[in-house]
Amino acid sequence: MTKTDSVKYDHLIIYYFSGTGNAKNAALWIKDVAEKKKINTTLINIDRFKKVETPEVTGKVLIGFCAPTHGFNLPPIVLKFIAQFPKIDNADAFILNTRGGLKLSKLFLPGLSGLAQIFPAIILRLKGIRIVGMQPLDLPSNWIILHPGLRQEVINSMYRRYQKIVEQFANKLFDGGRKYKALLSIPFDIVVIPIAIGYYFIGRFFLAKTLIASDACNQCELCVKQCPVKAIKMIDKRPYWTYKCESCMRCINNCPQRAIETAHGFSGLMFYFGYGFIIPFLYTLWKNLSLGFVKSSSFISGQIIGILEWVIFILFVFLSYYLLQYFMRFKFINRIITYTSLSKYKFWRRYNPPKATNK
Ligand SMILES: Cc1cc2nc3c(=O)[nH]c(=O)nc-3n(C[C@H](O)[C@H](O)[C@H](O)COP(=O)(O)O)c2cc1C
Repeated sequence: MTKTDSVKYDHLIIYYFSGTGNAKNAALWIKDVAEKKKINTTLINIDRFKKVETPEVTGKVLIGFCAPTHGFNLPPIVLKFIAQFPKIDNADAFILNTRGGLKLSKLFLPGLSGLAQIFPAIILRLKGIRIVGMQPLDLPSNWIILHPGLRQEVINSMYRRYQKIVEQFANKLFDGGRKYKALLSIPFDIVVIPIAIGYYFIGRFFLAKTLIASDACNQCELCVKQCPVKAIKMIDKRPYWTYKCESCMRCINNCPQRAIETAHGFSGLMFYFGYGFIIPFLYTLWKNLSLGFVKSSSFISGQIIGILEWVIFILFVFLSYYLLQYFMRFKFINRIITYTSLSKYKFWRRYNPPKATNK
């Protein structure tokens, strides 16, 4: 295969990670454009990667990274992959992050990248790789823990729109141009950086732990086999989500029995109980125990109390999850937890993108 004259690259290597198929679809669209321009293309899925593999190629190469945005950042597995990526002088690269877009009537609403473009771009630049393109892509949101999936016709219409945008992006890069769509939203991205950091170090561990398997589970273990970070184990014939879980939403969307739920009722109750009762109770206890630093009203003592409260709250949440998993084996409790989950009800659609679904 010989590339056409106007084309800058001989090879395209795309590394992609995709929880539910959006980022994979974007990678496939770029591959289609590349093949039309006779660029040799290799697509590499980084699910469960052990070490970073870079195929041997000659000539001018363009490297692409396609992944979803998780908590205003790239998912930890992708950041780890990029951190381990070898130093390559003179290579060009692009970053495409799919985000959670919405469509209200005729209005297409964008998601927000936060650090998802800038942070990996800095890491890659430090490795000598030149960033020639950054493209956020507002495909339908798949965050089924938080909201029901969009209707199929809305999904299809968003797909039609964003496929064209990806194709324009790919054409521009292949012809030697540069495109930094991400730069437009920089002020908003900066504002959410503290949330991105909070999500990375704390938030993601809570969210992942709201997933449960209801009695509809028939132990097919598809979720275990498909998990891109090997986060799901079978314990007592029931899937159990470990702290490795990245909440990519593949398991909840692909379960053939629709047996995976997010325990909204239980999580809400635990949050209310922990924050409304446990922390005030501890505060009173410390006061009564007359601990010196609680009595003094200095800034430092306030900070120490704040941190202690958070540590205890986090421990309480960890313990709640173990209790939740333990009690799920009792039919009656399982029913209560399942039926107080919004995702149990029909209106809480699962997300299924057209074409590649990562099944
Ligand atoms: C845990 C989680 C966190 C997310 N965080 C963001 C976010 O910070 N900003 C955003 O625009 N979309 C966010 N989303 C939406 C996804 O990035 C979006 O739906 C993406 O297209 C999914 O791609 P995939 O199908 O390849 O996994 C989040 C989704 C999940 C599951």
